[in-house]
Amino acid sequence: MTSRLGDDGEMSEAKIRWAEATDDAALLEIELTSWDGLSGFPSYLEKMGDTFFGRSGPEAHLVAEDDGVVVGYLRLEDKYPFPEGAGVLAINGLAVAPAARGRGVAGALLTAASEEARSRGARKLSLHVFGSNTAARRLYERHGYVVEATHTDEFVVEGKPVDDLVLARIL
Ligand SMILES: CC(C)(COP(=O)(O)OP(=O)(O)OC[C@H]1O[C@@H](n2cnc3c(N)ncnc32)[C@H](O)[C@@H]1OP(=O)(O)O)[C@@H](O)C(=O)NCCC(=O)NCCS
Repeated sequence: MTSRLGDDGEMSEAKIRWAEATDDAALLEIELTSWDGLSGFPSYLEKMGDTFFGRSGPEAHLVAEDDGVVVGYLRLEDKYPFPEGAGVLAINGLAVAPAARGRGVAGALLTAASEEARSRGARKLSLHVFGSNTAARRLYERHGYVVEATHTDEFVVEGKPVDDLVLARIL
């Protein structure tokens, strides 16, 4: 999987591929530098430990590589552990290193996830996003995701109530 990226008129090449065990350190660095209280749970980062793949293994992650450097990931998993829900895949994490943002890396990962989901026979991609995460919400909207549910004031993050939105894209 390869995707062209534009950056101020300059084109660079981002390769989208499946993660490997050797990507652990690079992905851990992205994880620790990407999230804040507008996009995720600070308590989750505090418990991260020293391995990225502690939560789920390389096989659940598409990564974007730019000039040989891993700059982003998307975690793609079954949403449900039973066959009746097999048509729905969940994007359970998407992050791009701060220095690589605004060049379409996340967009390329989302496109690859859609292709992968279709190839698995899925009919729908589903994800959660904080109402406060405007950058991510714009990105998902551009990629055809719509709000299926709003869980108002679902969480309190750094003292502020946060809506949890359920977004989905029909494939
Ligand atoms: C949200 C996130 C994944 C977006 O990553 P990204 O690689 O910067 O996303 P993209 O580059 O595909 O799109 C973002 C912006 O770049 C612009 N862009 C996209 N492709 C572009 C291109 N080829 N050339 C120039 N700009 C481009 C988009 O128009 C978009 O602009 P906008 O802010 O006006 O919407 C990233 O900000 C991040 O990791 N945030 C923290 C974690 C997070 O919030 N994850 C989502 C949780 S649900």
